[in-house]
Amino acid sequence: MTDPILRTIVHRVTQIGAPGTAGSVRILDLRAADGADLPAFEAGAHVDLNLADGLIRQYSLLNAPVDRHRYVVAIALEGASRGGSRHLHEQVAEGDRIDVGAPRCHFHLVEDAPYSVLIAGGIGVTPIWSMAQRLIALGRSFEFHYGARSAAAAPLLAEIAAGLAGAGVALHTVFADEDDRGLDLAGIIARAPADAHFYACGPGGMLDAYLAAGASVPEGRLHYERFAATGEVATAGGFAVELARTGGRYMVEPGQTILDALKLAGINVPHSCAEGICGACEARVISGIPDHRDDVLSPAEKASNASMMVCCSGSRSATLVLDL
Ligand code: FES
Repeated sequence: MTDPILRTIVHRVTQIGAPGTAGSVRILDLRAADGADLPAFEAGAHVDLNLADGLIRQYSLLNAPVDRHRYVVAIALEGASRGGSRHLHEQVAEGDRIDVGAPRCHFHLVEDAPYSVLIAGGIGVTPIWSMAQRLIALGRSFEFHYGARSAAAAPLLAEIAAGLAGAGVALHTVFADEDDRGLDLAGIIARAPADAHFYACGPGGMLDAYLAAGASVPEGRLHYERFAATGEVATAGGFAVELARTGGRYMVEPGQTILDALKLAGINVPHSCAEGICGACEARVISGIPDHRDDVLSPAEKASNASMMVCCSGSRSATLVLDL
């Protein structure tokens, strides 16, 4: 478990949609309990919220990185929402304390790119809006595409529209209740300048379509972040893990992940989501071949085998040596 390191207070709660209903969104404005500045973050970063009963959930920061006095997150309540989202919708109020982990970022904005294309689907708009605010502050050229079920169900729509209008940036929206074809991802990518960088965050189906539409975009320019794991956690076991720093050697048995085996051995490896989407458990690989199952590393990073996520990935070699 990632240790809670920042004590924050819920300064303001903004409710979008009827409380407790599927599709409703709560926006939490978190301030340091001692009134100090919070640690800086990059556009695209997320934080762990440490909730009751040991629940830890990751949420992207939606505010501008220049805001040092607050972290703002948005929590969508879907029909299948897990305990964390439901807890934040039903039991958290202004004035409550929430312990927050330091911001982490695996969805990096290339700040000096000549042109950026930002694509958001539903609640996936949160890191995208932070990126847009950063690009506006830097005076960079970009375009913003936003798809949602309806205008009424599109989180932050009014704030985004006002912010982009103030910067002279067009907002392109597609709402399913008016046009069920969704975002024209192939057209968006095809019409962009050849040297553009692309950023997308949204539902899994949208991201699958984005990756397919952008298959010919040069490596390193098609950025995205998923909210849910796409792969199965590796639990085949049957290999050994050696820890180079501590000198230990541990068998990962069938049915276990590397993280399971190390926890059983009393080894404390930082982790959070345990499903390959947050990056908290990343370990450098010294030797051996991982069986990558995460949604954090890019295809090139996976191919390099320089690091791996030990919560979900396994091994293709009899032994893995990790820098732990
Ligand atoms: S704990 Fe989140 S990626 Fe491993």
